Amino acid sequence: MEAVAVKGLTYKYWPGGPLVLNGIDFNVSPKEIVAVTGLSGCGKSTLCFCVSGLISYNKRGVMTGELLVNGKDVRELKTASLAREVGLVFQDPDTQLFSPTVEDEIAFAPENLCLPPGQIRERVDYLLDLLGIAALAEANPYNLSGGEKSLVALAAVLALDPHILVIDEVMSPLDPDGKKRVVSILDKLRFAGKSIIIVEHDLEAVAFADRLMVLNNGKSARFDRTEKILADRDFLAAAGLLYDDEGLNTG
Ligand SMILES: Nc1ncnc2c1ncn2[C@@H]1O[C@H](COP(=O)(O)OP(=O)(O)O)[C@@H](O)[C@H]1O
Ligand SMILES: [Mg+2]
Repeated sequence: MEAVAVKGLTYKYWPGGPLVLNGIDFNVSPKEIVAVTGLSGCGKSTLCFCVSGLISYNKRGVMTGELLVNGKDVRELKTASLAREVGLVFQDPDTQLFSPTVEDEIAFAPENLCLPPGQIRERVDYLLDLLGIAALAEANPYNLSGGEKSLVALAAVLALDPHILVIDEVMSPLDPDGKKRVVSILDKLRFAGKSIIIVEHDLEAVAFADRLMVLNNGKSARFDRTEKILADRDFLAAAGLLYDDEGLNTG
């Protein structure tokens, strides 16, 4: 069974509005890392909201097509079971972080699940260490740098231990060390059985993904092995995805 199975997915933010997602087909296999890229406004974040089931909070939105996570329709899952299936790290960590300290932030979800305090402490310490943010445990998330906020937001979502992880542009505010750390964490999580969707507009940040989907105006322009798409420079140039003078270094 696929971890995520999407067929003919369409989405409008209001009835009669423009089709922000216009018939998307894609899938994510168990233990697979699928990247999604495309120009600003092409629908990447909207796709993240749909896959993680958050779109149902927007009552005016109109979604059609098939959207299954681990065989279950996202629209039929209750909030608590949905949270165990899919965790979303938002593009803007400020919309996600609200606790007075970093460790409270990470403990929030497991506390809501009513895990025993000892187990919560263990999980928080493990995640502080995994993300390399132990020194920030007592800090107020509000005062952190963009990159640090991204790592805290990722830790807070991992605290729920979801089967599927959806990560919306967390790489851009990170320094090279932070990026390397996130890539190695995602690899570790994949081997531990997670399936991952990672959204990035920067092609270099997605080179490690197994497969890549290029979105264009709410449609899937390409969905294939990452190295195959990254090697097709004519396609990337036509899609407007090669923007620096030196071009993209794909090795
Ligand atoms: N809450 C919203 N209400 C109405 N339109 C929106 C909303 N959020 C995004 N859009 C529109 O949907 C399109 C896709 O946006 P988005 O999914 O954020 O793209 P991306 O993440 O690729 O930059 C854009 O045209 C954007 O203006
Ligand atoms: Mg976005």
